[in-house]
Amino acid sequence: MFLDTANLNEMAELLPLGIFYGVTTNPLLLERAKVPCSHHALQDLAATAFALGSKEFMCQTWGTKVDELVDNGIRLANLDSRVVVKVPLTFAGIEAASMMSNLGIRVCTTACYSPHQVITSVSAGAEYVAPYLGRMNDAGRDGMQSVVDMQKIVDGMRSKTRVLVASIRDADQLAVLAARGCNTFTISPKVARLLTEDELTMDAATDFAKVEEGGFGSS
Ligand code: G3P
Repeated sequence: MFLDTANLNEMAELLPLGIFYGVTTNPLLLERAKVPCSHHALQDLAATAFALGSKEFMCQTWGTKVDELVDNGIRLANLDSRVVVKVPLTFAGIEAASMMSNLGIRVCTTACYSPHQVITSVSAGAEYVAPYLGRMNDAGRDGMQSVVDMQKIVDGMRSKTRVLVASIRDADQLAVLAARGCNTFTISPKVARLLTEDELTMDAATDFAKVEEGGFGSS
């Protein structure tokens, strides 16, 4: 799992749980966290994520033309070998993704809405492809089925590209997708907090504590 945030406080709160492999960001998350979309700011954010134990940091390149996307992507990739460069699956983005992966840059194609875009991503040499589950559902599509189909596509193609499911809105969606074969997720801090909650676990922990307070288990 990855933590989907650009907020330093949320990273400091949740990365110590030890359940996240890395951190993912995008321009909207940067704006929400009031972090400028600049190389310098992303370098600082990545350094914080790594210091808190993150093994990968994903951030999105920007620009409308292929050369802008590639130039910014190269600069981001040069920050650290653990940086993965996200690029939206537009026509220019696909060309930029292919060029960057040919240069040995680690790429995550993003804003994926249709299973066929996974085939494009595999062919462009992306290490990850990120479908937006919640936004597919918001648009009236069957996001769960599409994401399961995407995973089947990479499995069927025997590709190393990982389907990184994003825009997950609750803990149940995560569990259902994992049970149906998906294995890589990025989740918001809100969903991350839901993963630490189950009222029956809390009841059991309270019962354990009462017994411990009563003197059993200690001399
Ligand atoms: O990483 C995708 C995310 O930023 C979008 O999530 O919940 O706003 O659709 P959401």
